Amino acid sequence: MMSFDTIIDRTGTYCTQWDYVKDRFGEPGLLPFTISDTDFMIPEEVLETLKKRIEHPVFGYTRWNHYELKEAIKRWYQIRFETKIDEDWIMYTPTVIYAVSAFIQLITEKGQGVILQTPAYDAFFKVIQDNERQLVENQLIYENNYYRIDFTDLEQKLAQPENKLLLLCSPHNPTGRVWKQWELEKIVALCRRYSVFLLSDEIHMDITGREQTHLPVTRFPYEQIAIVTSGTKTFNFPGLTFAYTLIPDPQLRETFQKKSKNADGLSSPNVLGMLATMSAYQSCGYWVDDLNRYLEKNQQYVKAFLQKNLPAIKVAEIEATYLMWLDLSEAVSDISLLRKKLVSVGKVAIMDGTIYGGNGAQFLRLNIGCPKAKLADGLNRMLKGFEAAAKIENE
Ligand SMILES: Cc1ncc(COP(=O)(O)O)c(C=O)c1O
Repeated sequence: MMSFDTIIDRTGTYCTQWDYVKDRFGEPGLLPFTISDTDFMIPEEVLETLKKRIEHPVFGYTRWNHYELKEAIKRWYQIRFETKIDEDWIMYTPTVIYAVSAFIQLITEKGQGVILQTPAYDAFFKVIQDNERQLVENQLIYENNYYRIDFTDLEQKLAQPENKLLLLCSPHNPTGRVWKQWELEKIVALCRRYSVFLLSDEIHMDITGREQTHLPVTRFPYEQIAIVTSGTKTFNFPGLTFAYTLIPDPQLRETFQKKSKNADGLSSPNVLGMLATMSAYQSCGYWVDDLNRYLEKNQQYVKAFLQKNLPAIKVAEIEATYLMWLDLSEAVSDISLLRKKLVSVGKVAIMDGTIYGGNGAQFLRLNIGCPKAKLADGLNRMLKGFEAAAKIENE
């Protein structure tokens, strides 16, 4: 019986996190805590569903637009978020970022502004800029190890007529914030006031702390709104590429479908991704609860380790995600030296916060979606890296 403690060797599976760590960190064989997938096995029920399907030897074109998928998503929203969604809103997309890109193209024109709250998931910068839109930063305010929205700045940016879309990340990667009801109400009210489209990436919606309540933005009445999300982050099958969007506006749905199905030729989904999503949503709510409890323990373990061994590192208060955001501003004077030593001495790969923009350069993003034993190994390696950097700094 597998548990979250089980170590699974992922090397040799063409997996980005382990097999291609050299691409980002310059050295092979580092212990990785990097891009956001986890080292956990998918739930048994999902694995069984996939095995059963693989036994059928034909993998032809497949339809996503059917009752079973839509009902599974609808029930998931009802049970997990106490949120009613209309099954007609559901549209398939292969990945969340494909849909973000599609919405950027449908809602805005070249040269127009997309507002992004930074620090932010690095793919957002690329998808905005490589669609030749202006990236308009609404930097989050960081105080007492906690991020909050600069609403004055946000309103100024929303008020500029060339800014047509706000790309919200809810819950937020990398800061781990779960936006509260009052914050979402204010965001929606401001978008409404200035007629700005609100696109909410909610891929981290299931991985939340026990005190936290994720609120899908479709709960708030506004016509110019859509959610992009998937079960791939939660259940760890992004390699099966299957995501979906919720689009309440029927006209926009039609336009989205024309673009993805006709213009971009994305008609048939990956059958395994679709079945995995259905199976996970139909029977694995308990698994997400267990996962969240496990991650909470990992988080406590990291905090205790740092408190004991590297107390100058401050940990941002995370409310969601399996990504810890470690503030080094008082821990080292030369962060680039530390980064080098983590790799060359610690033999550990931890994400450099610089790529997330905003005040990210003073942070490391540590992926704690792994068995505790790996985390313990990684923290000891991190300590070695810190000691090596401190030694040079003190010479
Ligand atoms: C906020 C956010 N959106 C999207 C993605 C990627 O999703 P996809 O692979 O479905 O494009 C990630 C992955 O890390 C993420 O953190």
